[in-house]
Amino acid sequence: MQIKELLKQTPNEQEVTVKGWVRTKRGQAAVTFIAINDGSTINNIQAVVEGGIVDEETLKLVSTGACVAVTGKLIASMGSGQAVEVKAEKVVVYGTADETFPMQPKKHSMEFLREKAHLRFRTNTFGAVFRIRHALAYAVHKFYNDNGFFYLHTPIITASDAEGAGEMFHVTNFDLANPPKAEDGSIDYSEDFFGRQTSLTVSGQLEGELGALALSKIYTFGPTFRAENSNTTRHLAEFWMIEPEVAFYELEDNMALAEDFVQYVIRYALENCAEDLAFLEKRLLEEEKNKPQNERSELSLIEKLKFVVENKFERLTYTEAIEILLRSKPHKEKKFQYPVEWGIDLQSEHERYLVEKHFKKPVILTNYPKEIKAFYMKQDEDGKTVRAMDVLFPGIGEIIGGSQREDDYEKLLTRTKEVGIDPENIWWYLETRKFGSAPHSGFGLGFERLVLFVTGMTNIRDVIPFPRTPKNAEF
Ligand code: 4AD
Ligand code: MG
Repeated sequence: MQIKELLKQTPNEQEVTVKGWVRTKRGQAAVTFIAINDGSTINNIQAVVEGGIVDEETLKLVSTGACVAVTGKLIASMGSGQAVEVKAEKVVVYGTADETFPMQPKKHSMEFLREKAHLRFRTNTFGAVFRIRHALAYAVHKFYNDNGFFYLHTPIITASDAEGAGEMFHVTNFDLANPPKAEDGSIDYSEDFFGRQTSLTVSGQLEGELGALALSKIYTFGPTFRAENSNTTRHLAEFWMIEPEVAFYELEDNMALAEDFVQYVIRYALENCAEDLAFLEKRLLEEEKNKPQNERSELSLIEKLKFVVENKFERLTYTEAIEILLRSKPHKEKKFQYPVEWGIDLQSEHERYLVEKHFKKPVILTNYPKEIKAFYMKQDEDGKTVRAMDVLFPGIGEIIGGSQREDDYEKLLTRTKEVGIDPENIWWYLETRKFGSAPHSGFGLGFERLVLFVTGMTNIRDVIPFPRTPKNAEF
């Protein structure tokens, strides 16, 4: 039985076996207390070994980090902080860990833990983060399933650049020692995947649209890749994205879906991950104590999550946001690093001002200038803006990007050419606007940015089990 379940049992001296990793061992010859964790919960179960029950040699091998199985009677606990504990009769040591085991019971820095990424799963913090990550992933599927969406698997290897941003990783099957050469002697990458240039997908959207224009409501949930060399706390080279796409949805419906969806999954975590969230909240409160008063956050982690779930997101257009920024103190005092004017791509300092200082709640910005957005977005009547939407979150910035899609064949074809995409490369996408085109919309939620928000962690590398960043690809 997993420790999570064992801790809920009524103790009546039934025999149980606990398997897990030793967090701490204390006590002397008369009695030894071993705290064991198996990752099923943040809580440890305590095994009590009375002197003489287990031989000295075995007991010596039980130390922080060792893997053990303890068999004994489940009894009521007097003082372990849990209702039950195991009165040991037998201890088996599966694997020892000497004093060089890096996860000793003390506070480690995140930098240190990132270097020990293979063992950081065995800390309370990362256990909590990855259990919450799992719960959020489950809630994503549950939300879409319960709302009539179909999970569509879109390809990882693709020949199209969905975002048109040129941030793709090449996929190649040619012999690196003997690659195909162009006439000038350089490597001919157009030949790289059985005679086609292909890359790892940056987004499943274009394929998702094909699905939506038949199944009406679909979503994708898969890994996506961006070859952007940005070393920030918000960017990964490999991240997971959830992309719903819905036929007959206009921008307003898309905004409502984004809000319902995000609030649902956060509520799910609040209801199902209470112990892990309480642990992370306590950890954050301790960190906050070291900060000057004016930098401390007004709300605790759980208060912040509840606030987002209970309050409607602010909705405004890009143009209105620019007006607010132009009237703002940091603009007037020239404190923004990037000056504000209509047409700029909003930087994170601008987004954070709007969300954290001005509205103090999540914001949905819409109708961005078409020049700074992707070719597939539906054009507004004014000829200047498109039916785009970005959802901005406090402490995170952009968590969702999406839009209503251009459904007019001629307009889409013109825009495709204008931005320099060869229509031949996406003929299949364009053709959906020739046969039974329909208004439709969708968006992409960066899953790690959601996990960052819910766990209160500060670096995106700490919410994905195996972060892929410019410096991190060892395992
Ligand atoms: O805004 P993006 O680039 O939008 C798309 O890819 C659309 N095709 C989505 C759609 O409409 N179906 O990315 C969507 C989200 C961002 O809002 C952000 O949360 C996340 O993906 N994201 C990243 N997360 C981590 N690391 C990166 N390098 C990211 N780039 C984008
Ligand atoms: Mg975006």
